[in-house]
Amino acid sequence: MKNSEGRVNFGSRLGAILAAAGSAVGLGNVWRFPYETGNHGGAAFILIYVGLVFLFGLPIMIAEFTIGRRAKASTGEAYRVLAPGTQWKWVGYLGVLTGFLILGYYSVVSGWTLEYIYQALTGGLADKTPAGYIQMFDDFSAGSFRPLLWLAVFLFITHYVVAKGVKDGIERSAKILMPALFVLVVILACCSVSLPGAEKGISFLLKPDFSKVTADVFLGAMGQAFFSLSLGMGCLSTYASYFGPNTRLGATAMSVGLIDTFVAILSGLIIFPAAFAVGINPDAGPSLIFITLPNVFQQAFAGIPVMAVLCSVAFYVLLALAALTSTISLHEVSTAFLCEKFGFTRGRAATLVTSGCVIVGVVSSLSLGVWKHFTIGGLEIFSALDFLTAKIMLPTGAMLSAIFVGWVLDRKLVRDEVTNYGQLRGSYYPVYINVLRFVAPIGIAVIFLNELGLLG
Ligand code: PHE
Repeated sequence: MKNSEGRVNFGSRLGAILAAAGSAVGLGNVWRFPYETGNHGGAAFILIYVGLVFLFGLPIMIAEFTIGRRAKASTGEAYRVLAPGTQWKWVGYLGVLTGFLILGYYSVVSGWTLEYIYQALTGGLADKTPAGYIQMFDDFSAGSFRPLLWLAVFLFITHYVVAKGVKDGIERSAKILMPALFVLVVILACCSVSLPGAEKGISFLLKPDFSKVTADVFLGAMGQAFFSLSLGMGCLSTYASYFGPNTRLGATAMSVGLIDTFVAILSGLIIFPAAFAVGINPDAGPSLIFITLPNVFQQAFAGIPVMAVLCSVAFYVLLALAALTSTISLHEVSTAFLCEKFGFTRGRAATLVTSGCVIVGVVSSLSLGVWKHFTIGGLEIFSALDFLTAKIMLPTGAMLSAIFVGWVLDRKLVRDEVTNYGQLRGSYYPVYINVLRFVAPIGIAVIFLNELGLLG
């Protein structure tokens, strides 16, 4: 479906919601959220996280939607279109660069999910001691051949979908992958909570202990909210440039926020009850799902090996699907930019982006093994990229997009986008605009400075 200017749109409102939710739901929900929750003490972290998603996350998401749909251009060009002749164009370019760098290292972890599907299917996850699982993960992730192979496979699949285009590639894949992901996440959560001894994990997730709440918990929750909602680099703004005139920005943001939070909490419900049921600590950190979980599945289904295999395969397939809908959205930001800015065909633009990402991905993957000794500020390249993008570039981008919509764009234009030119009431507008103008920029500045250790 092309609009009057010949730009392709998503075919339906549901397609738009699923594509945006696909971007948001990713490794951030199934991998990062559970270990952040584990490290920050459980339910209290979740409550704060949910509060921040609704207070800051949704208004900034609507702001990104406004920028994309109004400009009818991907994020790299949108600021130039809306504020021609100003320096705001750099915010668009920053978004493209951020997305490109995230895609590079995110694809490395996405590739790991394929290795774990393969291992689960071929019995590689069976009958190991806890130390054996650690050894297996360390040997694999520090290796050169296999992680690079899976990285290439993952990027190739992403490339294939993006090259097919907005409707036939992105929208269609979201319509297939997202329902599959929901089914898997619900089945796995049901299996996990029905394990004997799961109650401890459930109460860890649902009974808040406020004595654990420190400033750090707030800040961790905020960073997680941006990463998980794909905010701060124009991913959702690029998707919004394909929204039709009847797509309701507020309702779409609410759906994406709810779906993203739902999947994150269900992922917690998969991981913690299972971990507690076999007496494993929930605060293992980033290795939680690659080291702890295979161990949990083996122990939980010690007498029924088929179940252990089925659960492991289902879990890593879930993770791969979640990662794929996010890598597609990250790839689209750069691909659409190259098409719009330089007039490349989609296929050519996608090839350039994929080739560039292979380089970033290879460097970040090898930095966990043979190139470990190259460090930037004490971090190897993989972690340096994660730090630079998630902790510096995303908050900066989110803050600038809030300021842009709150202070720079014409008020009438902002109201028109939120109300679909007066067709909707948009009764949340006064709260929304004040969050963008004051609450979000100040709030983000606080986390930002604190993350960098500048608030003591
Ligand atoms: N939101 C994705 C996740 O939770 C990650 C992502 C970040 C995707 C930024 C796009 C942009 O995994």
